[in-house]
Amino acid sequence: MKKVLAVFMSMLMFMQLGTMSQATENSNKLTESEWETLYSSLVDENTLPALNVGADETQVNLCWHADKSTAKAQVKVSKNADMSDAKIFEGETTPAENDLQLVCRVTVTGLEEKTKYYYQWNIGGSWSDTKLYETKSFGRHKAMVVGDIQITESFYDGGTEQKADGLRWNNLLAEAVEKNPDIAYLVSPGDNTSTGETAAEWQTLLMPETLRSLPMGLAIGNHDKKGMTYEYYTNMPNEYYGRNFRMLDRDFWFRYGDVLYMFYDSTSGNAPDHRAFTKEAIKLNPDAKWRIGVVHHGIYGAGDCIGDMETEILLKTIFAPIFESFDLDLVITGHTHSQGRSHFMNNNKIVEKAPSGGTFTDPKGVLYINANSNCGRPTDESYEADWLAYSFLKNDTPTYTTLDFNGDTMTLETFRGDNSELLDSVTIKHSEEFKDKSFGNVLKRVLYKVVEVIGWVYTKIDYLVRDIQNLKEDGGLFGKKKLKF
Ligand SMILES: [Fe+2]
Repeated sequence: MKKVLAVFMSMLMFMQLGTMSQATENSNKLTESEWETLYSSLVDENTLPALNVGADETQVNLCWHADKSTAKAQVKVSKNADMSDAKIFEGETTPAENDLQLVCRVTVTGLEEKTKYYYQWNIGGSWSDTKLYETKSFGRHKAMVVGDIQITESFYDGGTEQKADGLRWNNLLAEAVEKNPDIAYLVSPGDNTSTGETAAEWQTLLMPETLRSLPMGLAIGNHDKKGMTYEYYTNMPNEYYGRNFRMLDRDFWFRYGDVLYMFYDSTSGNAPDHRAFTKEAIKLNPDAKWRIGVVHHGIYGAGDCIGDMETEILLKTIFAPIFESFDLDLVITGHTHSQGRSHFMNNNKIVEKAPSGGTFTDPKGVLYINANSNCGRPTDESYEADWLAYSFLKNDTPTYTTLDFNGDTMTLETFRGDNSELLDSVTIKHSEEFKDKSFGNVLKRVLYKVVEVIGWVYTKIDYLVRDIQNLKEDGGLFGKKKLKF
């Protein structure tokens, strides 16, 4: 009997070991040497596809570079792994940042929830390897937030930092998605790249295999704004250019289930267009239960936004009244490389305290969450600010936040990026419809006209200063080079 039991136990252990090794094999987490191999094989190209959020949950956008002579904006989609019964989606090609390639952009439509789709993109006369994109529930689902991905350029150190950023990013994504398989898309509050000038920053950002099945909504940050590559490596839906935006400046929105996301370019002080964008996005989505703002700069965040004149005066003046008067529930920010979360804020005051672990029904203010940085450049700024309900002091450790939308309830949970230890959580509950006709909000919207004028003047001055700087860099009015964007 003992022998039989021993054989049985051995078989059980063998099966368990087999399962464990299978789990490791299926993980997208990589060791340093595995990442080194992958990075080295891909870093000299710029043709990896970006999977971006679509206009709504039934759509997804793709964007990639291809050789100019053979580029075709086509994506093939099938429910079968052998690509039988596939449908081809056509998009458009536009000029790239170089003369040898074109940018291909395609929107895939008609996606069903909780369905496996296999897809290929046209890589210039032939199809790519087949990738799997599995849609999640269109009802209850999770979003994932990562701040300042900020893949470093490789000008000065031959790519050492870039490689390290890429590995950290790869393993953060793998950790989050493996622990939260119901994550439907990723939200980045900007500074996706460090200089915004090199293809390798985007190529490294797009290397993680997890991203072949995780659409991203990427805000524009001040580092992205240093160059123009965001223009060529993204395909965001519902982009809004307004009347005064120019170059990279833009806002955009997307809808997923009950949630409306509005992404703002907080490097632009263009108040009239930010307000008009908000009004339009909400008008087109009157039934959205949740309104989420995404901006790069850390308004009511942790870290170096505290006491910063630009954030304290300009950005709070321009953005906070929009968020408050249009009844946003949550605003996601980054920039400071410091994880933190505010209490509920209105009129620059705490209107309701929001300690970790609490559930808050119909709060009268806006909650702000400030995401940490992926790029491993900690800041040592003070965290003393009355508005902070929570801050994570070990800001050299990557973090991620999940937003769990479940009908009338939204739960934010922030985790360590290396082991998914829970750091902070808070739940908001809606028990009634939005009160966007309240007298206080209407008055705030009327008074905002003054801010619009100030923002418009600021934007014009900002553009003038940038033009003068570009002229100086390019040798003056009669210099040989053309103006930079
Ligand atoms: Fe930034």
